[in-house]
Amino acid sequence: MTATVITGIGELVTNDPARDGLLGIVEDAAVVVEGDRVAWVGRAVDAPAADAAVDAGGRAVLPGFVDSHSHLVFAGDRAQEFAARMSGTPYAAGGIRTSVAATRAATDEQLLAGAARLVQEMLRQGTTTVEVKSGYGLTVHDEARSLAVARQLTEHTTFLGAHVVPPEHAYDPAGYVGLVTGPMLEACAPHARWIDVFCERGAFDDDQARSVLSAGAAAGLRGRLHANQLGPGPGVRLACELGLLAVDHCTYLDDADVAALTESGTIATLLPGVEFSTRQPYPDARRLLDAGVRVALASDCNPGSCFTSSIPLCVALAVREMGMTPAEAVHAVTATAAAALDEDGPSGVGRIVPGRRADLVLLDAPSHVHLAYRPGVPLVAGVWQRGRPVV
Ligand code: NIG
Ligand code: FE
Repeated sequence: MTATVITGIGELVTNDPARDGLLGIVEDAAVVVEGDRVAWVGRAVDAPAADAAVDAGGRAVLPGFVDSHSHLVFAGDRAQEFAARMSGTPYAAGGIRTSVAATRAATDEQLLAGAARLVQEMLRQGTTTVEVKSGYGLTVHDEARSLAVARQLTEHTTFLGAHVVPPEHAYDPAGYVGLVTGPMLEACAPHARWIDVFCERGAFDDDQARSVLSAGAAAGLRGRLHANQLGPGPGVRLACELGLLAVDHCTYLDDADVAALTESGTIATLLPGVEFSTRQPYPDARRLLDAGVRVALASDCNPGSCFTSSIPLCVALAVREMGMTPAEAVHAVTATAAAALDEDGPSGVGRIVPGRRADLVLLDAPSHVHLAYRPGVPLVAGVWQRGRPVV
């Protein structure tokens, strides 16, 4: 197996809890990559010999970003809906139906090409692990083929048949939930690892979310939830009660929601691109962190509420608008986001520690702070995924 040493790293973010500080930073560092794994981490002067060497030129290296929430399988775009929103029309869950109509009309090849292009766009911005949901098909056939497309791009596929009630079931939401928990789940489970529900007014209520998640669990899928995005609601407390690994959005929280998150250890995944693109108030990350809640950040890349694939943008927004320090925001898109996908084990991702997958980002900057300090600037100069240079 070939070993490569990346040396001359001015600042290495390891997220190694055995090192100092939240990010376990090593200065004047080197990393040895062997096959698809991190083999050695330390000071450059102590680095072992390797078959090949790469000089980082004093720049920063971070773990590859983990985007634990995205909706990449869709057709069409909703730029006009965005433009109308910027002129005052509020965001509503119903806009999803526009993407559903376009997705149903698209071929598998078109859906795969669109999603693959977005995964490449993410990679160029440092995202090396991505979760992808279905949710724009909403028939047995269209959900199953959406997941089959997603499965070609990532292991982290999520069945989101319970995104909204589609128009043909508008007068029979209970019948639609029966379809989701029955034939649709049966067709989709082989292609999915996770199951998700949009638990919100205008989408699915507490009881419907419970029945979808419990049917999913019986089919071997682990639960995730979209909750408290457009207003206060029961979703966050439900996620905590069910012991889900993560609950996503968390924009409107009361004290009981925050207490439930603290007690359950459920990760709050905040999606600041959504608030940016829907002109809603940002979630209060500081309040959550001060209450001891684990916070992850993700893009929620989708054609409606947030069409950005940029984790660096999410970091900058979280720091500028949500009270996170640059270190907290970087941790939230690496180690904590990995935990939100249950990928924070010894052979997982999100930390640069021997044994972990060699997913690394080289910044054209001396430190991680530049991700927030230089918003909108394409700072990603190189990416290694499973040990291979891909950018
Ligand atoms: O996460 N909240 C529900 N689903 C997406 C939005 C989907 C859409 O508007 O197309 C979200 O924001
Ligand atoms: Fe979403």
